[in-house]
Amino acid sequence: MRTHRCCTATFASAPTARWKPTLLLSAIGAVTKRIGLIATASTTYNDPYNLARRFATLDHISGGRAGWNVVTTAGEAAARNFSLDDQPAHWRRYERAAEFLDASRKLWDSWEDDAPVGDKDAGVWADSSRVHAVNHAGRYFRIQGPLDVPRPPQGHPVIVQAGSSENGKDFAARYAEAVFTAQQTLAEAQRFYADLKRKTAAAGRNPDNIKILPGIVPIIGSTEQEARRLERELDELIHPEHARKQLAGVLRVSPESLPLDAQLPEDLPSEDQIEGAKSRYTLIVELARRERLTVRQLIGRLGGGRGHRTFSGTPEQVADAIQDWFEKGAADGFNIMPPVLPSGLDAFVDQVIPILRARGLFRREYTGSTLREHYGLPRPARVFADGGAAGGAAGAAAGPAAPAKPTEPAGPTVPTEPTKRELVVSEP
Ligand SMILES: Cc1cc2nc3c(=O)[nH]c(=O)nc-3n(C[C@H](O)[C@H](O)[C@H](O)COP(=O)(O)O)c2cc1C
Repeated sequence: MRTHRCCTATFASAPTARWKPTLLLSAIGAVTKRIGLIATASTTYNDPYNLARRFATLDHISGGRAGWNVVTTAGEAAARNFSLDDQPAHWRRYERAAEFLDASRKLWDSWEDDAPVGDKDAGVWADSSRVHAVNHAGRYFRIQGPLDVPRPPQGHPVIVQAGSSENGKDFAARYAEAVFTAQQTLAEAQRFYADLKRKTAAAGRNPDNIKILPGIVPIIGSTEQEARRLERELDELIHPEHARKQLAGVLRVSPESLPLDAQLPEDLPSEDQIEGAKSRYTLIVELARRERLTVRQLIGRLGGGRGHRTFSGTPEQVADAIQDWFEKGAADGFNIMPPVLPSGLDAFVDQVIPILRARGLFRREYTGSTLREHYGLPRPARVFADGGAAGGAAGAAAGPAAPAKPTEPAGPTVPTEPTKRELVVSEP
């Protein structure tokens, strides 16, 4: 569930409504049993204590199905809603995000798993000797703690991340358990996959514990012609002027410098000069240059996928496209982005999932009840290796130094590793 889209350059001309993801997912969590609930929330425009509390609560409400898509929120439009004139620098947003995750883990772990005892006779709800201050003191945050919510059922909500720049990948290698990414070609996706798995290992983590999920927009038809006709129909719904403004916002140029029937200007800024969404910028410019697209064609290609791979075809062809990237080391699973809802999602679930199951690529039964179990991820041990108070080495770290990496897996682990590599499917 996305956030902060109210703060884009085009919001004024095309307002959209976006309910607060964590609130919406709490309601959905109360009326569902199995589906994972991943909310996007910004580390630039929130505070660790509040956000750690919200995700811990969502994990308790849902019986361990919470996930947090960690974003740093690009763009000055968002900044102006938080008492800033412009967005903080790209590197600073990620530096703050790293400390934010360190602090959030400490807060989730400020309660030992068995601190809540609920001893009615003794009148004790929680054993206070098992609830600890965190005493976090860093460059961005000072937090005493403990959190006022017991340790989440999953230990920590599943940490998802969605930034593919170098800063983004370094952050993901240290913290992410699942990564949303936009990749246009198999070669690009393979490069990204290999690089991030390598960085994760270099960060001292098991590369199997980071699931890389490229986005795909499946446009499904009973025949290939029908799928292509549907794709054309969807493209015709695009308002070129609105899309040009959006594109100009990402490229940091004026809309006037992007005539629709001309290619992108030669003198675009370099990625280094982009403080917003770096990887999306590069993906768009490289796509336009590689295929010599005019602005109008580029807008059509970006269409409903905003840079994610769009694939139109029969259910078999969509299943082939998914299996191909999965088996060629470009993905552990996919972020399914139906072009239209709900019919696009229904078509994928009813027509493509059965094919993936028949090919042994997607599970038939759940093997667990938490999001971690669905993703085949271990339950993290508490960050406080000394098991007790935050006074220990981990607690008092100053500045966003490398976090005390949770020993993977030390505490109770749930045997969830799928016997065979199975696809991980999420739907935003
Ligand atoms: C699937 C997906 C979902 C995203 N959802 C959001 C969102 O809800 N809010 C947001 O501010 N950014 C969102 N982003 C953008 C990323 O957080 C990030 O800004 C972007 O990928 C660029 O990151 P980079 O500068 O590290 O390359 C999303 C990105 C992806 C791939």
